[in-house]
Amino acid sequence: MADPTPNKEDKAALQARYLDLVNSLATLIRNSQIHDPANEAVVKSLARALSLLNDSIHSTGELHVKLVGEFIFVNEERLRYLLDSMLNFDFLVREFKKREVGEITFNSPLTDSQLRDFVTAFIGSGFSENGFEMLRQQGALHRITVSRQKVAEEDALDRRQFVRRSYFNAVSYTKGVMGKVKSGEQINLRKAKRIVESLVDHLVAEPTLLLGMTAIKDYDEYTYFHSVNVSILSIALGQKLGLTKRSLEQIGVASFFHDIGKTEVPESLLNKPTSFTDKEWEIIKQHPTWGFLSLLRLKGFEETAMKSALASFQHHLNHDRSGYPQVLCNLDHDLISEIVTISDKYDAMTSSRVYARVPLSPDRALSMLMEQGGRQVNPVLVKVFVNLIGVYPQGSLVLLNTREMGLVFESNPNPQCLDRPRVLVVMDANGKRVSREAAPAVDLMEQDSSGGFRRTIVRSLDPNKYGISLADFLL
Ligand SMILES: [Fe+2]
Ligand SMILES: [Fe+2]
Repeated sequence: MADPTPNKEDKAALQARYLDLVNSLATLIRNSQIHDPANEAVVKSLARALSLLNDSIHSTGELHVKLVGEFIFVNEERLRYLLDSMLNFDFLVREFKKREVGEITFNSPLTDSQLRDFVTAFIGSGFSENGFEMLRQQGALHRITVSRQKVAEEDALDRRQFVRRSYFNAVSYTKGVMGKVKSGEQINLRKAKRIVESLVDHLVAEPTLLLGMTAIKDYDEYTYFHSVNVSILSIALGQKLGLTKRSLEQIGVASFFHDIGKTEVPESLLNKPTSFTDKEWEIIKQHPTWGFLSLLRLKGFEETAMKSALASFQHHLNHDRSGYPQVLCNLDHDLISEIVTISDKYDAMTSSRVYARVPLSPDRALSMLMEQGGRQVNPVLVKVFVNLIGVYPQGSLVLLNTREMGLVFESNPNPQCLDRPRVLVVMDANGKRVSREAAPAVDLMEQDSSGGFRRTIVRSLDPNKYGISLADFLL
């Protein structure tokens, strides 16, 4: 790689610029599909897209817009999947796939008539049987290279797409529900149950894919992603405990709503970039009680709502009752609340939040949780949780005895071999980074001809330090 990893501010600015660019391209194509070229919306979106496009081409010499799996990359930068851009992103992904386009490279700045021609060709190619070829030829006239999508394992992609959709659907639902609660609207549990049901089904059918999604920690929309991650982790823990499907659904719903009380904490406080004062902490510490009260008001109040209310009230209480809110009576331990406590702590520890705290690596978070066993968290449940996530959880970066660096993407299902997960080799023995597409998946159970293990983990490394994230590789 030519340039060193840009610092956080540069990266954020780059993300914002590229997001803007992709959004404007999608808007231009959508507008051009429904209006004629002289229409005001088309003219405006053409001018906007052209200026952003040419700005980028001027600064980097050329511009690549690429589709990898379900993600859009601009110049090797994976664009974050923000809810506001979801429609445009989904649209572009669909249109690329329809034409089998994998990448478009703009090799030099364009004039507005060149961009208009290209967009017209892009739209036209969607109606032709050899649309890709048409588009490629038209692009070549304006120094735009269009390359075909690599045919990866279609099945795996389909399954991932399905799981990914359920995940983002859940995130988007959480966002909607929180908005409703904030504006005082009543919510009902039916939709939450449906969403949780689909998460449970995915977890039963293929736990790895959905658990892997929890490695996505979105910075801007932390609360929504967090609720879904806690839900997935809690359901998976309940599953490991052998609970019934109905219980799993209750656990999922309760986890979904555990932080619903945060809707009453002022946004400026939740997003405060510096640490809280004592007085601010007192406000934050009320969210379990606020959540409890708001869940009691649910439409059609029934068992699941009651369990959710209880879990919301108790999720920061701690196993030894040392947490908050303070309770004066002797409250029984509640299984769902104790499960939520563990998933909540784990997801919070491994996420970076608005107040720019550095997230812990997954294995560090697990060992901290283990240390808290018996005090803050239930000692038996935490052991099962470690067992579930693995000694080297998904997303851990590990150094192998071959001097390669691996990214754990699948835990070993055999509890006796938790230190032998499946990993993607992301750096070779000479310290050279392996690209996303080329990273080989290896099983640490693999043996060599003498019967010894081919690779073994020496120690874990901090993925943040190396700027490597499982989300980038997973999808
Ligand atoms: Fe909370
Ligand atoms: Fe939480």
